[in-house]
Amino acid sequence: MTDEQAAQLIKTGMTIGVSGFTSVGYPKAVPLALAASGHAKDLTLLAGASIGDEIDGALVRAGLIKNRFAYQSKKDMRNAINKGDVQYADYHISHFPMNIDQGVTPHVNAAIIECIAVTEAGIIPTASAGASDALVRNADFIIAEVNRTVPTGLAGMHDIFEVGRPPAAKIIPITHPMDRVGTPYIPCPPEKIAAVVYSDLTDEPQKFKPVTPETEQIGEHVVAFLKAEIAAGRLPEDPGPIQSGVGSIGNAVLASLAKSGFRGLSMYTEVMQDAAFPLLEEGVFSCISASSVTLGEENKKQFYDNIERFRDKIVIRPQEISNHPEVIRRLGVIALNTPIEVDLYGNVNSTHTMGTKIMNGIGGSGDFARNAAVSIFAATSTAKNGDISRIVPMVSHVDHTEHDVDVIITEQGVADLRWKTPKERAQLLIENCAHPDYQPLLREYYEHALAVSPGMHTPHDLAEAFSWHLRYEKTGTMKG
Ligand code: COA
Repeated sequence: MTDEQAAQLIKTGMTIGVSGFTSVGYPKAVPLALAASGHAKDLTLLAGASIGDEIDGALVRAGLIKNRFAYQSKKDMRNAINKGDVQYADYHISHFPMNIDQGVTPHVNAAIIECIAVTEAGIIPTASAGASDALVRNADFIIAEVNRTVPTGLAGMHDIFEVGRPPAAKIIPITHPMDRVGTPYIPCPPEKIAAVVYSDLTDEPQKFKPVTPETEQIGEHVVAFLKAEIAAGRLPEDPGPIQSGVGSIGNAVLASLAKSGFRGLSMYTEVMQDAAFPLLEEGVFSCISASSVTLGEENKKQFYDNIERFRDKIVIRPQEISNHPEVIRRLGVIALNTPIEVDLYGNVNSTHTMGTKIMNGIGGSGDFARNAAVSIFAATSTAKNGDISRIVPMVSHVDHTEHDVDVIITEQGVADLRWKTPKERAQLLIENCAHPDYQPLLREYYEHALAVSPGMHTPHDLAEAFSWHLRYEKTGTMKG
């Protein structure tokens, strides 16, 4: 049927699940028709991870969204959440499909799934898998949006494995990033499909901030750290699959592996970002397992024009599997995520600014940080053109506690926090990672905290710790 007819199947108050992950493989035609019609209001929207403006922008601007779960990254959605117009709750990427299966999320009425084909056996997704399998399993009905711009050659690159509900969940028999353990399609009985719609709309272009001298420096520190770990025998010569987080910094850090001299590495990650593609071509990576292939326009064209070359090098998995603690721990993944801020004792905030405003969400950072062989958080030492220090006395919101954070890396240097006491961590972070502009302020705070809490395990002056953020709020800059 037409996208307008399919959109009419969605009614006010429904819970809608959509395919898509890091703005790849999300439906576009039906959501745009829904936004244009405006007939269905108070919708609850479930998406495995970030999706494009056709959903998180258009439907918000049309005033149709009441609730949004879980990861989002679009400006209009973020603003609507922070104004209180849309209710939002944030969950780990790996828990999201499990919670749909358990019935913990609102019941899914309709799933809109972008795909390259629908067969008797099921649905073959486009370039991401995300939570589509859980949505298809649980939805009352499905709208399949067949995207004719995505090559059908992608068929066979997915590996859909159903873990099942705890306590009867299955062992996931993946012992190498390229292992295929499921089906190349999402199983779906044909009678569940209420509509098939054709679309020629492409995913919104992926935009990354360019590599800068600072992000290049961070990448060099990451490489030097990994090489030192190998030399010391704490990591093997083939150090284990790499996970790299979303965003411009993660992309830039990944790019630095090009000059590392490493060859034949692998990725077991949730997002294959743009910078990973040339590394696959150059042999730095031999294979990549991800839930989404998130490429800029040029690399996407290269990939789609030469799919056969990549068939045995890329596998696209459901987010429940790409981020599953069991597999991450078994493979010894090296996790590389980006913090918004880090405190003197190694607690990390990845989701909020000033403790109150949501940025995007925790995404997969928690899944990987908690279960990785080494959990690294890497970012520039300052944000907002140097106006904000990322190293702060106390984070204004905690996503990753000190127990899940092994190493902090900025352009200034490396703080290896493993098996360090809180006081040792504070000194390493101030001296190795903080920007020189902020080191005096941080030293002053730390000396003061030691003085007012003599002998304490984790020295703090709580009022002073938070005045750091309040000072920024009043002046717009932390300097001075
Ligand atoms: N205070 C205020 N704003 C801050 C900040 C801070 N301490 N740190 C970063 N920001 C702002 C930046 O200024 C930037 O805003 P702008 O685009 O208006 O300039 C924005 O946050 C993005 O930060 P940036 O420094 O450009 O890095 P990024 O694009 O790599 O994104 C995160 C960083 C943390 C927002 C992003 O990695 C994220 O959402 N992480 C959580 C999910 C996750 O880690 N998933 C990993 C598994 S794939």
